[in-house]
Amino acid sequence: MQPITELDAETLRDHYRKFSRYEAVGTSPVYATWAAGVAEDDDVINLLLTLPKPKRQANLLFAAARHLGAGEGGYERLRAWLLEHWGATRELMLTRSTQTNEAGRCAVLLPALARIERPLSLIEVGASAGLCLYPDRYSYTYRRDHAGPTESETVTLHPRTGPSGVDLDCQLINAAAPDRLPEVAWRAGIDLNPLDVTDADQRKWLNSLIWREHDARRERLSAAAEIAAAEPPRLVAGDLLEAIEPLIAEAPAGTQVVVFHSAVLAYVSPDERERFAELMTSRHDVLWISNEGGGVLPGIGGQVTGTLDGRFVLGVNGEAIALTGPHGQSYEGL
Ligand SMILES: C[S@@+](CC[C@H](N)C(=O)[O-])C[C@H]1O[C@@H](n2cnc3c(N)ncnc32)[C@H](O)[C@@H]1O
Repeated sequence: MQPITELDAETLRDHYRKFSRYEAVGTSPVYATWAAGVAEDDDVINLLLTLPKPKRQANLLFAAARHLGAGEGGYERLRAWLLEHWGATRELMLTRSTQTNEAGRCAVLLPALARIERPLSLIEVGASAGLCLYPDRYSYTYRRDHAGPTESETVTLHPRTGPSGVDLDCQLINAAAPDRLPEVAWRAGIDLNPLDVTDADQRKWLNSLIWREHDARRERLSAAAEIAAAEPPRLVAGDLLEAIEPLIAEAPAGTQVVVFHSAVLAYVSPDERERFAELMTSRHDVLWISNEGGGVLPGIGGQVTGTLDGRFVLGVNGEAIALTGPHGQSYEGL
């Protein structure tokens, strides 16, 4: 193990300061306060420095602390709790990772999926627990932004079986709402560490990964997990580059294979992202949908001019077609 330096400590403080100021502020006052506190706390910084670098991040620390019962008070309370429970917190941070699974992202995938006439074979890379593999089982409400939620500006879609326990709300800008749900003939996912929605502790971990104040997202997770648990997805444990081609080969004949990913490629190296993009572009039998941060796939993000405001870029077969809210809350056609 490399010796810990002053630079490591300052880099870590900076991560927590930026997390507080730019990521959590406005969306999670509890996390903003906690991260600001950690940044200036020598004792907690020194504890975090005993972890490998990828395990020191704020999202992981706060999810682990809440998972183990840290509660939601101010920073002094968190600090006291962490010092007392550091052994268990450290252990959890070493064994778990940030695998937030957001079913809401189906709302921004649907416009591309709904255009495909044939039954789909859906393959998600970086699927976590696979909750985005059920776009045909959720209800959707699309609203146009310019006129407010009037009757004529709202489109609602339900599965064939009727309204779903998961209703995804998405604001549409410069785009038409989809007019149908796709028929999914087959679905499967790949993840380095697939999570099992039928396992109570893994479901609790998914819950802990959702930021403190985001109650609507927690309700959505719970409802989507019920749907997935009733018919658990096939999830292959493995690296996306190695596992993708064998899985594509398994898709039933007569279906349109769709490979998609959201909030995944930032976790792999730029070289591997490039190799994955080349592979997808070379597969003319596959429709490739990417939904990632603007800098993650420069070939797609680079097609967008103007500011992203924290939104993802949705690409279809390498062409940027929309800017999307990171939890699927908005879709702006390009
Ligand atoms: C932030 S989660 C997103 C989950 C899901 N795509 C969603 O939108 O809700 C990222 C997932 O990618 C997985 N992942 C990261 N690198 C991977 C790789 N090289 N191969 C397969 N999965 C990977 C992680 O384990 C994690 O479950």
